[in-house]
Amino acid sequence: MPIARKSQSEIELMQEAGRILAITHHELAKEVKPGMSTRDIDTLGETIIRDYGCIPSFLNYCGYPASICVSVNDEVVHGIPSDKRIIQDGDIVSLDAGVIYKGYHSDAARTLIVGTVSEEAKRLVEVTRQSFFEGIRYARPGYHISDIGRAIQGYVESNGFSVVRDLVGHGVGRRLHEKPDIPNFADRKKGPRIKPGMTLAIEPMVNAGEYDVVWLEDDWTVVTEDGSLSAHYENTILVTNDEPVILSRAEGIEL
Ligand code: MF3
Ligand code: CO
Repeated sequence: MPIARKSQSEIELMQEAGRILAITHHELAKEVKPGMSTRDIDTLGETIIRDYGCIPSFLNYCGYPASICVSVNDEVVHGIPSDKRIIQDGDIVSLDAGVIYKGYHSDAARTLIVGTVSEEAKRLVEVTRQSFFEGIRYARPGYHISDIGRAIQGYVESNGFSVVRDLVGHGVGRRLHEKPDIPNFADRKKGPRIKPGMTLAIEPMVNAGEYDVVWLEDDWTVVTEDGSLSAHYENTILVTNDEPVILSRAEGIEL
């Protein structure tokens, strides 16, 4: 199967999915506080998603047992919400969520700062966010998929952090994960040529220490091997003939 290129009507549905997802992240960011459990965050997120008439795309995806991936501090991605895991002042909390609107997916992640965090944590979160914007500059015709990751990696490493190698971004649309894979590092393969109509989830995962990660016994939670902090930032975007368009955004809400 070739890489899907979306029609105007498909793009409109993905835009609406993305708008609702951006609102979901915004609402969660306002609510996350010390004392809350990671399961509370998931429950709230699922309620918001359903209130907007969407389906949480992660719930039961390959057996994943929640709607929001909540990954705290050294957890990189895919943390499983739990009543026992309580958010503390000083934590960084990565929230990854996906919604389905009329059969179309949007996928986005944000890393929240809770209370007073270290200078390093603040810088990590900001560098991770900015690395997405460095990468998206190459999401346009004339470039290859690997150009995105090369830009992300260059920016992250010039800031003294490292980019996770074992997980990648992806196409998104009819399904949560479509072709192509989008590494956040300079892969040896150039990857496909970027074409208008492609919808991509670009999602740098950045560690304060080394890039190595390990999976916990729950088979989901990915943590840094060296115990260093990790941050995640992701948007669903559309490639056009000129500037790429961020689909997972809503008017008046900061990216
Ligand atoms: N946003 C995640 C990704 O693209 C999807 C999480 S899969 C789940 O990798 F199963 F955890 F939901
Ligand atoms: Co994703």
